[in-house]
This record gives sequence, structure tokens and C-alpha cells, in this order.
Amino acid sequence: MNGIDTVLHPLAKRLHTNHMSLLGIANTMRLAHAYNRSKYRQHDAWRRSLYRERFAELLEENGPPAARRIEMKDGWAIDASMSLPHLDRVLDDAEEIIAERSGVRRSARGAYRSYFQDVWTPADLQRYPSFLDFATSSDVLAPVSDYLCSIPTLSTTLPSGIRFVESNAAYDDRPDSPHDSQLYHIDHYSLPNVYVLVLLRDTTIEHGPWTFLPRAISQKAATALNYWGRQRGYRVSDEDIHAVVDRKEVIEFCYPRGTVLFIESSGCFHYGSRNSVKPRFQLMIGYCGVCRTNFSELIMPPKTYPIRQSDSRLRKMVLNKGMLE
Ligand SMILES: [Fe+2]
Repeated sequence: MNGIDTVLHPLAKRLHTNHMSLLGIANTMRLAHAYNRSKYRQHDAWRRSLYRERFAELLEENGPPAARRIEMKDGWAIDASMSLPHLDRVLDDAEEIIAERSGVRRSARGAYRSYFQDVWTPADLQRYPSFLDFATSSDVLAPVSDYLCSIPTLSTTLPSGIRFVESNAAYDDRPDSPHDSQLYHIDHYSLPNVYVLVLLRDTTIEHGPWTFLPRAISQKAATALNYWGRQRGYRVSDEDIHAVVDRKEVIEFCYPRGTVLFIESSGCFHYGSRNSVKPRFQLMIGYCGVCRTNFSELIMPPKTYPIRQSDSRLRKMVLNKGMLE
């Protein structure tokens, strides 16, 4: 951390407290974006120009896409083809991880989001290469890059780059009423950021599915509710949302094992892990641009991802945010 960052560190922490409540979410995001742009303007321009001018070539070199290009519309796309590259390896490895680590609460009583448990460890990047192979495959990166109009990075702070999550009502200290991420919200980490969510087991309403509203409806609701304004908190009740959005617009990610959701969580209202009376197992891969809208890099050590010399340029760029020509 340089001298200025050391000075800014306590301020950044204060600005992040209670979901950016001091200045309000929108104001804090603007400030954070300006700060991150001052650092990464050049990286951002380079990634955008490569996407505009050389993306087809980068995809080809990374391994030509196997299927028709997935297109995110209105902030989301679901791929239920079960045919994405490396997906079968991911699902096999997931079974091993579930057998080894699930069913045991890891947090103390009263811990934040105890119902949502990430069992991924940094060592898994090497032990289970299928996950990064999937996350950097051309079939997955093409729709994410199209949406960002840039070459994305696998997030190194917030949102998390890779999480392997068990949601379980048995670990919930307040199972009777939805709270925290079980309530509607729009993520404020980076504009836009895209999650690729993979169902690692069949998921039904009893598993507390990821639940969302499409982007256009979400944005209309956000305006009506003055969401991200100073007076309004990060989480929004069902009552408030459904005062402005018809319940029939809600989409629940209830699909068979191996189904993949691409979603702009920074544009679509969403919640999840609500009353997971049957444990839900989901892989969450977080992509963003290089100029995020939070100060997470000032207050968290960044994650690093393994890179081999033989990796394609595209894969290297996704796994190394600091890369520059
Ligand atoms: Fe979220």
C-alpha cells in the first residue's frame, strides 16, 4: 500500500461501514469510482480497446467457443444446456467438496450471514483446476465481456472471485424472518459486475434459490424507491418492492444441477438463501471491470490466482487485474 492509501485506509473503512450509510450508497460509489479511475484509467482503456478490436482473436487463442454465444438480455441469461466446457468436471469436483465439507456449521452463533457458508479455500485453485478452467473458458467469458464491453477480471476483493456456497437454514440464527442478503438489494461493488452462478445440486424453492427481478424492472423500482439514496438502507423489504413491482415479475433460479445463470447483480434486485430448509450448493463466480465502485482494495488484501506461462492472453488478463501491455 502506498503512502496516500495508508492515509485513506481509515476513511475508506468508515465509508464502507453499514453498507456505505455515511454518505449514502450512490455518493460513496461515485467517490470510489473516481479514486479507482485515478489508479486504473490506463488498464481500463487497454481492456476496452482489446475488447473492441481484438476480442475474436483473443477468444480463438483461448480456445474457440464450443456452443452458440450466450447473450445476456435485460441483465441476465440462463444456460440449461449442460454443455458448457469443463462443467462436467466442475460438477464432479463439487461432489467431492460437498462430501468433504458440507453439513457442518463453521461460524459462531450470531455471526453475520451464518446461513450462507463459503467452503472454498485458496488451495482449491490448484487442487481443483476445473473451476478456473470453467471460469476462463471462452463460452463463459464471451457473454460476460460483451456485457462489460471490456475484458473482465475475476474479482480479487468484493465481490468475491470464486465462492463455493452452502446455504442452510439450520445455520440461520434468525430463521423466522428474512434478513441481510435474504432481502432484496442491488450490489454496489462495481458497475456493472456480472455473477456466473452454477447450481451444484438440483435446486427448488425449498433450497432458498437465488431470486431476482430483471434489470429494467429493477431500475424502475430503484428510481421509485429512491434506492441507493442517503435516506434508504441497502436492504429492501418485499412489501416495499412489491408496492412498485408486480410479484409475477420475480424469477427464481430453480433448475437442475449444472444450470448456469449469468446475471448483472449490480443492476438487478435480488436475494437468496431464504429459508434453505434443504441445503443449497451453488458456485458463485464474480467478474468486474478494473475500476470498481467501492474501496475494497484499500481495506482488503487482494486475492491472487495462479497463472501459467502457457495460459492464453485472455486467461492471463482475467486472472491478473494489474496486467498491462
Ligand atoms: Fe447481492
